[in-house]
Amino acid sequence: MTREAEAILGFWREAGVDALYEDAPVDRTLTQPKQEVRPIRPAQPLRPAAPTPGLRKESIDTVALSAEATALAAEAGDLEALKAIVANYAGCPLRFEGAARQSVFGRGNPKAEILIIGEAPGADEDAQGLPFVGRAGKLLDRMIASVGLSERVYITNTVYWRPPGNRTPSPQEQATCAPFLERTIAIMRPQILVCAGAASAKAILKRPEGILSLRGNWFEWTSQDGSLTLPVLPTLHPAFLLRQPQAKKKAWFDLLSLAERLDRTHHSALQTET
Ligand code: URA
Repeated sequence: MTREAEAILGFWREAGVDALYEDAPVDRTLTQPKQEVRPIRPAQPLRPAAPTPGLRKESIDTVALSAEATALAAEAGDLEALKAIVANYAGCPLRFEGAARQSVFGRGNPKAEILIIGEAPGADEDAQGLPFVGRAGKLLDRMIASVGLSERVYITNTVYWRPPGNRTPSPQEQATCAPFLERTIAIMRPQILVCAGAASAKAILKRPEGILSLRGNWFEWTSQDGSLTLPVLPTLHPAFLLRQPQAKKKAWFDLLSLAERLDRTHHSALQTET
């Protein structure tokens, strides 16, 4: 029996299946034991110890987690400090479920005018600790280079840990990471946000339309405290473009719109100065 089970698992492993997960995301922020909500614990192991037998499971309020994350994020004065805080943050359940190795914060020019927000790290990103470094990332880099914007972007995600089996992160998981994204924007003060893919657009814009309707149109994002409003361009996710190459034409139009908007922002800034 054991041998049969091993053979089946071996078969799937060779076929590239490296994770087992459920059909729908589980909101584990609602089922974790209460003591999971606590300030960052340095040197915490990636996988938590088994829960104490008999411990009563209480629901955890995403609002409390979000308040904790907001307070922690506020301590960061620059992206490096924020990255270190995220790496130690234990409030997002993905850290214990999907991530095999590490958190994935961001890459690119920290002073960039454009902040690209993807969905979530995948296996390559988990291995390297950097966002968009797999096949989709390589395509994203080529797309950005094609409009001459390589030095003008910083790339991050809506969550900082790989979801199990690369599933879409749940809105609750995105919500627990949102204060760190919000702080990233407050520190960088980019001129434009780009949402790569449906999950990112949904988290940032909170609109009901699908990505195929949203993409290529300009929207506005306003920070929680109301102090900053930025233009947002949703576009297609590069992983989608790998699966549907005929959609690359649409993504190309989005990139042209992005480059044109950035130019316009610069012209008006120059005119205000003179
Ligand atoms: N897809 C994403 O949305 N983000 C990554 O970092 C990698 C793939």
